[in-house]
Amino acid sequence: MSPRFRCVECEREYEPGRQLRCSCGGLMEVVHEFPEVDRELFDARLNVSRGLGGSGVWRFKELVYQGLDEKSLVSRGEGNTNIYSHSRLSEYTGIERLSVKHEGENPTGSFKDRGMTVGVSEAVRIGERSVACASTGNTSASLASYAATAGLHCVVFIPEGMIAYGKLAQALSYGARVLQVRGDFDAAMWLVQEASEELGLYLLNSVNPWRIEGQKSIIFELIQQRGWEPPDWIVVPAGNLGNTSAFGKALREMEGLGLIDEVPRLAAIQAEGADPFYRLWLEGEESLTPVVPDTVASAIKIGNPVSWRKAIKAIKYTGGVVEHVSDQEIMDAKAMVDGCGIGCEPASAASVAGARKLEERGIIDPGEEAACILTGNLLKDPGTTVSYHTGVIKGISPRFPNAPIVVNADLASVSDVLDNLALTGSGRG
Ligand code: F0G
Repeated sequence: MSPRFRCVECEREYEPGRQLRCSCGGLMEVVHEFPEVDRELFDARLNVSRGLGGSGVWRFKELVYQGLDEKSLVSRGEGNTNIYSHSRLSEYTGIERLSVKHEGENPTGSFKDRGMTVGVSEAVRIGERSVACASTGNTSASLASYAATAGLHCVVFIPEGMIAYGKLAQALSYGARVLQVRGDFDAAMWLVQEASEELGLYLLNSVNPWRIEGQKSIIFELIQQRGWEPPDWIVVPAGNLGNTSAFGKALREMEGLGLIDEVPRLAAIQAEGADPFYRLWLEGEESLTPVVPDTVASAIKIGNPVSWRKAIKAIKYTGGVVEHVSDQEIMDAKAMVDGCGIGCEPASAASVAGARKLEERGIIDPGEEAACILTGNLLKDPGTTVSYHTGVIKGISPRFPNAPIVVNADLASVSDVLDNLALTGSGRG
């Protein structure tokens, strides 16, 4: 049977099409009638670079978008990202069995590609010409690339002056029309929703239920890579809350299908200056109170996340938690991830900083196993990285700085510097 949209508020069902919100205003989710699947079906597609095996999203087609026709498919071979561990990260977090799954290894450098391959394929299927999103940077980079791949027009709405240059450069290069909104991300998000309704743009933010379907594959792939043994915890940075929602849905479906026996706990980590979801969780309120966001992690500088209702269900379903971390903790954790040779963008490091804090608070037991999601690539935001190492970010004193050293153009100068650093080569004794 073909998939349906169901409102997460009033449960009204719709035929999937260009209407993305219920008439009651609620967000929708895709409900599937899954065929029989088992672990072997997905394992048989591993190490096959053709067809469904070439994408870490479409390898799980039955769980993502079973009926999608091949002519509509827009894929760049997304997913298939690596999992790393490093003794220094284990020491830093106090969690011996800590690993990181690097979603920055996707084609445009962030996890967004997993949602975009599904969303843009759907846009093609229903005959859309122009697609749009609001973004703190990564969504716009991803959409711009997939729209270009599919030959669709693309308009992205970004908060003026607030997105990292790597991401802006991508959106411009892939040929999107970039509208710099005089306001923050939340203003851009509101505006793009109005524009999509009134001006006929197909909306590809995570309010689009197909985006969530693609992002579920982070969890499918993580657990498959681990031989179908989930970790105790999955730790994820949280901004607009699409990913947290997707993770909850993925785990619910995997449990329902018998693909996992135990459901891991989700920990969603916000930046302290942009933590409305954390406050909602802490205070047990009925509805989310927006904040004016302020954090160095521009990707998650969001004060009014759209998917909080879905996300709270995800946290509750998994027996999870919500935590927040300071900019100092985010940037130090990032320097630690970077220094291990792995590297990520600031928002991604919120997961590692969060794992560390949850261990310190006694919520994650040091003997438990935790998988942190690194959501974006190191090269997305070189400005913030260099500013950290040179100590010029206001309010942050770097614990692990590595500033460049200026030398005169002569050997004596180099020798002095290396002596000071105790780095002179073995050949000099
Ligand atoms: N990490 C990175 C690198 C992101 O770009 C985002 C979101 C998140 C974490 C948070 O994920 O919104 O699903 O809770 N970036 C969006 C964007 C908002 O426009 O690129 P979320």
